[in-house]
Amino acid sequence: MRIRNQNSLMPWEPTGVGSWSSRHQVSSWPPLFAVLKSEAKRGNLLPFVIELDGQYVGQLTVGNIQRGAVCTAWIGYWVDEIHAGKGIATAAVALGVDHCFNSVGLHRLDATVQPSNTASQAVLTKLGFRREGLLERYMDVNKSWRDHFLFAITAEELTCSMVQRLVQSGRASLL
Ligand code: ACO
Repeated sequence: MRIRNQNSLMPWEPTGVGSWSSRHQVSSWPPLFAVLKSEAKRGNLLPFVIELDGQYVGQLTVGNIQRGAVCTAWIGYWVDEIHAGKGIATAAVALGVDHCFNSVGLHRLDATVQPSNTASQAVLTKLGFRREGLLERYMDVNKSWRDHFLFAITAEELTCSMVQRLVQSGRASLL
């Protein structure tokens, strides 16, 4: 799926070692899986799969989890382009944020987005993330240092769960 999605994913993802196809060979998955598993075990990372009716359609990751006086992390996501525009990322991020603020006990979540990534900014804005500023030449993406907007939300900004907020706004319904 990620090989098929190269054109929609590569402009937004951190530059990796080697070509896109070599990074997505079947043999590349076990070492990546091992890193995700060990970071998750240490409490540094939450790697999620996004499913639509039981089918794998993308990933949601919460990374760089810090405890102590900050209780913060970043959140990132992608969805198979054939399912774009169905509200999948919006629902996944809402579920992820609720999990982080409730079960995980985080206080703040950051999301960094390139100014030209309007779809991702739409997801964050719909969910109530605030744009806090511009991080200049923040991340090496597709072989260049790219500016990113910093979006964030803190737990006290939610008076009910993010999923409830989506339902109340008519963007989702509970089964
Ligand atoms: N300009 C403005 N808005 C747009 C555009 C565009 N070109 N394209 C889509 N949108 C809007 C849609 O209309 C929709 O808003 P609406 O519900 O108000 O109509 C919104 O963007 C998309 O919402 P969803 O349907 O929930 O999102 P989707 O499931 O399509 O996933 C995502 C969006 C994750 C950005 C997907 O396009 C993707 O995987 N892109 C490639 C990878 C990527 O950019 N990941 C995010 C990196 S930044 C980060 O992780 C914090």
